[in-house]
Amino acid sequence: MSNSYILTDNLSVKDGVLFFGGRSTKELAEKYGTPLYLMDEKRIRQNCCEYRDALKEFFGDDSCALYASKAASFVGIYRIISQEGLGADVVSSGEIHTALKAGFPMENAYFQGNNKTDWDIAYAMDNGVGYFVCDNVEEVDAIDKIAAEKGLKQKILLRLTPGIDPHTYDEVCTGKVDSKFGTAIETGQAMEITAHALSKPNIILCGFHCHVGSMVFDSDVFLRSAEIMLQFISDVKNKLGFEAGILDLGGGYGVRYVSSQPVISIRENIKEVAKFIKAKCSELGISRPSIRLEPGRSIVADAGITLYTVGTVKKITDYKNYVSIDGGMTDNPRYALYESKYTVVPADKTDEPATMECDLVGRCCESGDIIQPKVMFPGSVCRGDLVAVLTTGAYNYSMASNYNRIPRPPVVMVNGDEDYIAVKRESLEDLTLNDI
Ligand code: LLP
Repeated sequence: MSNSYILTDNLSVKDGVLFFGGRSTKELAEKYGTPLYLMDEKRIRQNCCEYRDALKEFFGDDSCALYASKAASFVGIYRIISQEGLGADVVSSGEIHTALKAGFPMENAYFQGNNKTDWDIAYAMDNGVGYFVCDNVEEVDAIDKIAAEKGLKQKILLRLTPGIDPHTYDEVCTGKVDSKFGTAIETGQAMEITAHALSKPNIILCGFHCHVGSMVFDSDVFLRSAEIMLQFISDVKNKLGFEAGILDLGGGYGVRYVSSQPVISIRENIKEVAKFIKAKCSELGISRPSIRLEPGRSIVADAGITLYTVGTVKKITDYKNYVSIDGGMTDNPRYALYESKYTVVPADKTDEPATMECDLVGRCCESGDIIQPKVMFPGSVCRGDLVAVLTTGAYNYSMASNYNRIPRPPVVMVNGDEDYIAVKRESLEDLTLNDI
């Protein structure tokens, strides 16, 4: 087959076998079984480093990246990102708990979400979460009240919607005025919530946040949202006399799932955003806020692949072919949800010509259980063959389910010559642990 599946430099081929992070996928599949999430620790660290270095170079020491841990949340990943000097965006008490287990410095955690319960708020405060990214007026009131009860003052950012459509897919478009997230600038409600937050004695308003969407390839999206946010910061300064210290522009840089998608230079993008922000701040006469970015996908996506074993190969004469694997929408629901594109590789037969078109499907009792339609496989594909689905490091493990009571696969890290289990394979016993 053609080598268009070499999407990143941590993929290679030797004797027809796909290598990931310099390691044979065949040997790793034999050692750990399939389905198997593989993650490349070196690549995660490189991706962290790219953000860290570019933010330092173009904004200075006061700015930093927060890893959006919804992309992949397990104890080991919080250890890696804290070692790399990134903060974390957490969205639930579950993610906070996981970060705590990793010994993550919680003062560097930013708690997101459009509907934090009182319990979540109290749990986050009890565990020293640094910042709440506060979504709405009820939350401002609840944070103020709970902080008063605990005798503390809570730092917050206000999440605003700049009214931007980044032209990605609807499910991940979050910056538009009618979004369920944040408070709209356009309607005047953002100014109102800012005044409200400033009036609360147990809240320290530190700045503003926005996140316009995911899988963004166009750097213009970040420039447009920065422009609107800086204008708002300037308006707030003029109207309320408050100058924001922090501007969090969210996450969203796109990654390469298939070879037709571009490779984004994070450094070049951050350079462009920095140049724009500096110019805009001097034009508006405001001091440059300290910047936060919240990358999720671009930290972990290309640091992950999933390995499966082929079971059934069904050829429906004159209609279509199916290759069924031992996983499915339970470990990767992204095609079922968003029709996401993926690159599929017959991992132990890469040297054979790919002549047969098939739908790659899972083992769930549901016709929508498709990993990827219209994939080319060698005509010899059969039970026992190894299949790799690439770029699965983001939003695969974290969105996995136990539908059909299928246990979730393990997450195995490769790091040069080493490999180790970061998350154990779920057992059948695990599935009934909470059943009474
Ligand atoms: N910050 C906030 C507030 C977010 O809501 C998100 C993603 C991020 C940062 C990180 O965005 P990233 O850099 O990963 O694009 N399940 C979907 C993606 C949902 C993204 C939700 N928010 C998927 O599988 O494509």
